[in-house]
Amino acid sequence: MLKIEHLSLAIPAPGGDRQAVSDVSLTLAPGHVLGLVGESGCGKTLTAQAILRLGESQGIVRTAGRVLLDDADVFGMPEPELRTVRGGRISMIFQEPMTALNPVFSIGAQLTEVIRLHLDLTRPAAEERAIGLLADVGLQDGAGLLRQYPDSLSGGMRQRVLIAMAMAADPDYIIADEPTTALDVSVQKRIIDLLRGLQEKRGLGMLLVTHDFGLVAELCDEVAVMYAGHIVERGPVADIFDKPAHPYTRALMHCRPEADGRHKRLPAISGQVPSPGKWPEGCRFAARCPLAAIECSTPVREDAWQEGRHLARCVKVMEVLKDEKLEAFL
Ligand SMILES: Nc1ncnc2c1ncn2[C@@H]1O[C@H](COP(=O)(O)OP(=O)(O)OP(=O)(O)O)[C@@H](O)[C@H]1O
Ligand SMILES: [Mg+2]
Repeated sequence: MLKIEHLSLAIPAPGGDRQAVSDVSLTLAPGHVLGLVGESGCGKTLTAQAILRLGESQGIVRTAGRVLLDDADVFGMPEPELRTVRGGRISMIFQEPMTALNPVFSIGAQLTEVIRLHLDLTRPAAEERAIGLLADVGLQDGAGLLRQYPDSLSGGMRQRVLIAMAMAADPDYIIADEPTTALDVSVQKRIIDLLRGLQEKRGLGMLLVTHDFGLVAELCDEVAVMYAGHIVERGPVADIFDKPAHPYTRALMHCRPEADGRHKRLPAISGQVPSPGKWPEGCRFAARCPLAAIECSTPVREDAWQEGRHLARCVKVMEVLKDEKLEAFL
């Protein structure tokens, strides 16, 4: 199991650290896909990167909570153990396939380096494994590809190479942070199909960070909705699609891309996500919420509303479910 428990993160700022993620709890079971959705700047990437402590080099600090990999706290791990977890047990696929590969080294050099970092293989054996991994991600002529440099590959091919790298040491979990946003629409679907195929075949646990509720419906078992550093709603996908309980979730769902790829405007969800540290004491969505009332100005618990494993950080859920003022809102 991979668990995030009550995690809070702060980012460095001139006037003192600012909270950017607060009290986030998530559970990812082997073989399951968990979606993490929310508008830009809500803290999705910070949360995903914290699983492998990748923010530390940028000065991001954990101020509370833990990340547990089979009951071991990742934040308590000594550096050598952390290195074997990174890429060995948990791999990450980033938002930007253009910058994640080093332009001065060949594909072969980069892929075999990752393989040899985790597996005790000779160079020829590592090359053979690299060719096999490239075939697994749909890239034929692996031997030729190993001699090429990132510049000569298309965005879709680079993302496939990065997925091959992520699979190099047979990880148990994969964290995919908007793995297709930088790609053409036609390529996006093929990369998603590839990820889904690998996830199913290898029984991977996958955390999929995305803006796209359509993708969540298609791929995920569970979903968590993030707003201004908080998880505002989480639970099994079917429950959340049947009965979205948080007004923010409802608003986001209405922002799903249409079948033709265009996004509907969100006329009623005006305003912006407040910046890190500039959060109100109570519900952080209140300033944009048509149901906001006096009781929303005091802190709201993550399980303010709960039905089984479906939780919402909102004290107005009964009204949300009755859909009263929300008709006009949406
Ligand atoms: N290294 C950093 N230094 C300072 N601020 C940062 C850093 N990383 C993130 N932030 C800020 O923290 C907030 C959350 O950022 P994060 O990248 O996690 O958002 P996100 O939900 O992934 O957004 P997007 O959908 O655009 O990728 C943003 O306001 C961002 O500007
Ligand atoms: Mg991000």
